[in-house]
Amino acid sequence: MPSSATSYNKFDEPFARIYNETLGPSYNKIALPTLEKLLLPYIPEKANILDLCCGTGELSQWLLNKGYQVTGIDRSQRMLQYARHNAPNCKFIFSDVRFFQLPPTFHAVSSMGLGFNHILNLQELTDTFHNVYNALHSNGVFVFDLRLENAYSSTLNNRVLGDVKDDYAWAMKNIYHPESKECRVFVTTFQLTERDCWKRLDTSFSLMSYSKDEVQSSLEKVGFTKVIVYDLQLDLGLIPEADMVCFVCRKPS
Ligand SMILES: C[S@@+](CC[C@H](N)C(=O)[O-])C[C@H]1O[C@@H](n2cnc3c(N)ncnc32)[C@H](O)[C@@H]1O
Repeated sequence: MPSSATSYNKFDEPFARIYNETLGPSYNKIALPTLEKLLLPYIPEKANILDLCCGTGELSQWLLNKGYQVTGIDRSQRMLQYARHNAPNCKFIFSDVRFFQLPPTFHAVSSMGLGFNHILNLQELTDTFHNVYNALHSNGVFVFDLRLENAYSSTLNNRVLGDVKDDYAWAMKNIYHPESKECRVFVTTFQLTERDCWKRLDTSFSLMSYSKDEVQSSLEKVGFTKVIVYDLQLDLGLIPEADMVCFVCRKPS
């Protein structure tokens, strides 16, 4: 697979463990009912589904349990290690969604848990949409969630999350930069070592906020049709906060 996938390791230790134990399960409380409403009724039984930015594979396993065939793609080897453990009967590919190429064998492509907010500019997001288009059967469905700018600039700005366990503790803080529309996420972890010392690690990564309109027009530019944007609070009642949305569209037949 493209070597570009090897260059990204911000999600590797320590973040993968945090994601596997805490953040993944909490995102999936939203992602699973979203897919249940917006995707599953519209695809065939045993459909072939591609799970982009699949992370630790919890959602891939959930889809497999429902009888679908699932392939996951992620650019973090550590995330994929958890995914192979959590979903041993799914297929996982180490690759970058901005560059992957697969033949048109999928009935559906999904990317949940805000994976596309990790793509840091509209051109690369559009490249990703092209790759998805090429991997879909005609009339295939494409579903993904996204946080919009307001979410980062208001509710999430300066928000701190964290947890304390017996052998490790972590904290994560968001700082939003309106001029670049980027949210910088700072993660600090403390891990208890064999010598009974606490080892501190600091890392950070960026998330990009997009507007609904720019994403919709980029999907249409690539050729997707029937683009519908659902607000997870207002339309689906799944979350208390505004400005997290789910796009649903189709490759034309
Ligand atoms: C917030 S996690 C979401 C994981 C999973 N979709 C879920 O819902 O639990 C984001 C994931 O996207 C992956 N990711 C970010 N940018 C990527 C890219 N360009 N190509 C492939 N994976 C990417 C990260 O490695 C991480 O595992």
